Parts: sequence; C-alpha cells; structure tokens
Amino acid sequence: MHPVAHSLFKGRHARLRRVRAAGTLAGFVILSAAACRRDGATVGGTGGAPGFAGGSGFDGSPGGSGGAGGAGGAGGADVEMGIDAGDAGADADAGSKVDANTQPDAGSKVDAGSTTDAGNGLVDAGPPTTLRAAAARTHRLIGAALGAAHLSEAAYAATAATELDFATPENEMKWETTEPAQGSFDFSGGDAIVAFAQANDMKVKGHTLVWHSQLPDWVSNLTNATDLHDAMINHITQEVSHYRGQVIAWDVVNEAVADSGVGLRDDIFSELLGAGYIDDAFKAARAADPAVLLVYNDYGAEGSGAKSDYVYNMVKGMLSRGVPINAVGLQMHTGPADSPSATAVAANMQRLALLGLNVFVSEMDVQICTSDLNAQSARFHDIVADCAQAPLCLGVTVWGLTDKYSWLNGMTCATPQPLLFDDNYLPKPAHAGVMNAFLGL
Ligand code: G3I
Repeated sequence: MHPVAHSLFKGRHARLRRVRAAGTLAGFVILSAAACRRDGATVGGTGGAPGFAGGSGFDGSPGGSGGAGGAGGAGGADVEMGIDAGDAGADADAGSKVDANTQPDAGSKVDAGSTTDAGNGLVDAGPPTTLRAAAARTHRLIGAALGAAHLSEAAYAATAATELDFATPENEMKWETTEPAQGSFDFSGGDAIVAFAQANDMKVKGHTLVWHSQLPDWVSNLTNATDLHDAMINHITQEVSHYRGQVIAWDVVNEAVADSGVGLRDDIFSELLGAGYIDDAFKAARAADPAVLLVYNDYGAEGSGAKSDYVYNMVKGMLSRGVPINAVGLQMHTGPADSPSATAVAANMQRLALLGLNVFVSEMDVQICTSDLNAQSARFHDIVADCAQAPLCLGVTVWGLTDKYSWLNGMTCATPQPLLFDDNYLPKPAHAGVMNAFLGL
C-alpha cells in the first residue's frame, strides 16, 4: 500500500480486522490485496522524467512518441502522520452523542495536542470535543480549504488549528497564482498555508496542478501542443519539487471529465494534447516526488451515473497502463437532499477501493439557501459516515472554514451557509453531525 496511506491505516488495519472479523473479512482482504498489489507497480515502477508518451489514453487515441522515462521514483518515504496516538482508547468512549451546543475550547489552540489531538502521542481519555479528535478515532483526516489571507485573523487560525488536522489551499497553489508568468514562480501563498499547517500538526494536500480554470493567460493563449506539454510538465515538476515532503497528496488533474460523462471536458489540454495529457501529468508528478499520494479530483462523479462511470473507467485504465495514480477526490459540493445518495456514494467508494484506490471527500459543502441547519447536519453526517466506513477513504475536506468566506456566497443565494462554522466561528449543528459520523453515532 502507498506509504502515505499505509501510515494512516496502520492503526486502522488492526481495528478493521477486529471489527470485520465477523462481517466482510473476504471483502476486506480483497481490498487490502488490491491496494498492496497496485502499489507495487506504482511506487518505483514508473519512469521519472516524463516523455511525451501521451495519447495512449483509455480512449485509445494514438499518441506522440514518448521521451525516455527517468529513473523510477523509489518507494515513498513514510510521511509521519502522527495519527495513531489517540488510538488506544478509541472505541471505549465514543458513546456520548455530541450535541450541537458543545463549544470547542478555542483556548486549546496553542497546545492543540492536550485535550483533543491524537497527533502528539497524548491519549485522549474523554469524549472528543473537536473534529480532529473525533476523526482521529477512525484514522481519518478532517480538513478544510484554507485561505492564506485569513490566517492572520485570530479566530480563523484558532478554529482551524483546534478543529482540523488537514488543510487544502483554496487558491494559493493554483497555476495562475504559482506561475503567473512563464518560468516565474511564486509559492508564497502556499508556503504560508504549509507553515501554518506544520505549526499546528496538520497535513496538507496540494491543489491543483492541472485544471482548465484559474490558468494564467500565457498558458490559455498557447496554441502549440509541444509548447503546452512542455509548459505543463515544467509547471508540475517545479511545483511538486518545491513542496516535496511538505504535502501528503496532490490533486494532479482536476475536473477533466465533461459533465455529460461522455468524454473529456473540452479544454485547452484535451484539445491540444489529447487524453494522454492526464497520464503524463501523473508521471511527471511521480517523478518529482516519489512518495506523495497522486489524486484525480472531480465533481458530479461522487455517486452513480455516466460521469461517475467515466471517471471509474478512466482511472481503471490508468492503473492498467501503470500510471502512478493513488486516489480519487470526490468533491461533494451538494445540498441537503440525499442526492447523490449516501448509498450510491458508499458504493462508488467501494468499487474504487476494489481497484486499490484511496478516496478523499475533497471539497464538501452543503448549501442551504432554502433549507434548515438540521437537514444540513444530517447530510454532512451521512457522507462523512460513508468515509468513516469505507476501507480506503483517507479523509474529508470541507470547502471553507467559516460561512462568511465561502465561495458560494452570492452564487446560488446571498447566504448559503454551507460550512461547519458560522460567521462567528461558532460550530453549527453540522459540526455535531460530522463529529457523530466519525464516532459511529
Ligand atoms: O485574486 C483575485 C484578487 O486579486 C481580486 O481582487 C479578486 C476580486 O475579483 O478576485 C481574486 O480572485 C478570485 C480567487 O477566487 C481568489 O480569491 C477569483 O475572482 C475567484 O473566482 C476565485 O474563486 C475560486 C474558484 O475556485 C475559482 O474557480 C474560489 O475561491 C474557490 O473556492 C474555487 O474552488 C474550486 C476548486 O478549486 C475546484 N472545485 C470547485 C471549487 C469551487 O469552484
């Protein structure tokens, strides 16, 4: 199994064997075998320096001739996740259902480890009071999209450090921000979020290397395939190398599949490079960092349906070609209705796991323009419970920390209130919904 995923799972394997002995041992063994089998091929398998080998995408369209691959990325270094510490007492005190009125003790920001966090080896005796303590009970990560501009706001920083053990930069690692002009890189925004995370024992997922949106004009204006391909490979190589050892995962390619689920999105990458650009992007990322989890991230493919099937077949094809992909990100921008249904999402997580792929719920928010906070809480609960029960789900990220900074504000309605904390950083009923899901309640 991929080193990063393995260090998350260590405690869980033992636990799952105990829990599942009676239940679906066969299924679990298949899952573990699939994960182990695949990784052997991935880590150290595929060439480093990318060739223009693209094109032999799953749609079979012929590709350019490949450049020689570099030395394979050696097996990944085991990034210390520090999640096991709270393990011992896990099952014992998950009993007490968390009600919406429990105030997380903001004061514990500084020594995040004392009462809540499982990251620093302190076993947490009492019922968890924070998301990160509850998530640690199931060896999942709980995170949010963070904005570097807000880290200087005390309440924002305190809430994030106390409640979360995982961060995704909302915009700071995107191409338009990190390489505004060709060859000129600015990692200051991403560096600030990584520094904050490291100071508060949080892990980071890089977001995102190749995406049709938030591209700098110099990329959008390219018309020559070789120029675009070289620019893409250089961008990936420079950014992944810069953050090597500082992030546990990368959203390598984001939202490449058409909403219809019939083919790839029509964007500059698919137009100029064909389907093979996706394989090449993953190979380039692996060459730049042999140990990081590589993720394909998308929306509208969380449950069942044409787009979900397309993504499934796409990643299955990548695995069959030995492309170093480790996980799929299910964005989950949703509403309070059970759509996509929690059942369909669980089934999708399961079929991806049977391919040996991890999953992340990567950008969850539940907008409630016309609904209520309890319906929102139930929706968060059910999807987080899917992750808590899915053998290879690594964690849940909510797309923002406080309602007041949500990207949805003013989009579908003035105040969609889609997140776990309100404008004053007070936990909403949804906070309890997520806590209880991690506690199996
Ligand atoms: O940086 C400029 C700033 O200089 C300018 O003053 C300001 C006013 O217009 O705009 C700022 O850029 C904004 C950028 O966020 C940074 O805040 C863009 O206008 C705005 O469009 C951009 O929105 C981001 C959006 O992606 C862009 O598509 C959202 O914050 C971000 O939450 C959202 O995130 C995406 C994920 O990356 C991928 N999945 C979907 C998700 C929601 O769209």
